[in-house]
Amino acid sequence: MKNTAVTFREAKGQDKLVMLTAYDYSTARVMDMAGVDALLVGDSLGMVMLGYPDTLSVTMDDMVRHCAAVARGAQKALVVCDMPYMSYHVSVEETVRNAARLMTEGRAQAVKLEGGAEFVAEVRALTRASIPVMGHLGLTPQSINAFGGFKVQGKSMAAAQKLLDDARVLQDAGAFALVLECVPAALAERVTQALAIPVIGIGAGAGCDGQVLVWQDMTGMTQSHLPRFVKRFGDVGASLRAAVEAYSREVRAGAFPAEDHVYPLPDGMEKTLKKLK
Ligand code: KIV
Repeated sequence: MKNTAVTFREAKGQDKLVMLTAYDYSTARVMDMAGVDALLVGDSLGMVMLGYPDTLSVTMDDMVRHCAAVARGAQKALVVCDMPYMSYHVSVEETVRNAARLMTEGRAQAVKLEGGAEFVAEVRALTRASIPVMGHLGLTPQSINAFGGFKVQGKSMAAAQKLLDDARVLQDAGAFALVLECVPAALAERVTQALAIPVIGIGAGAGCDGQVLVWQDMTGMTQSHLPRFVKRFGDVGASLRAAVEAYSREVRAGAFPAEDHVYPLPDGMEKTLKKLK
């Protein structure tokens, strides 16, 4: 049975929820077969797939295309798609239209947006339009210019209170789950205990209801500096590089393709090939 926003929400307090980012069909297939609960088509794709320095240049068309690919690969996992920068900031009407594109063209089952009380009208309108919403608080990368960089959030009592208030507002507006990024573990645990919806942490400690990571970071594909909260669970980058180097060596040495990789001509035809003009 396909996971849904409803089953995801109901899992709070039972099993820990496993979420990973995914941006393409093949990787989504692998993650789905591995039993990941939810795939997040994150706007981090701007950085890890498209090579931008941040998420700000990602467009609605980018999200729709990548989400549709992931959705085709996700037989069981819930597919959540990020609303990119400026797709929900202008008006409630535009927000609903953009989210509807992610659901109809991208085949997302839910959308995620960054921010708290300032987006309560948008979260309410999306919920009213039967579009499940995942909130995202803490370090919200679309706000790096306002934050002055990628910094841990919620480090003063006032900031911690605002974060808890925002989390409650999002829940009350209809959000079915919340991502908490880069906040102290004790604060994330406090928020998790205060909410009835699942809290998925990234750089927020083990007290959350589940975890999410960017797959390139956790598999060793990312070649640049990794934040402290990332654990590498594999070294796909090294395996990929070794495979590409081996292929290059064999092509240059004339060792690939070998006998096993070529198609023979039918019996007797080889001799007659000379007759070809
Ligand atoms: O865009 C993204 O990948 C995200 C996760 C890091 C939570 O929002």
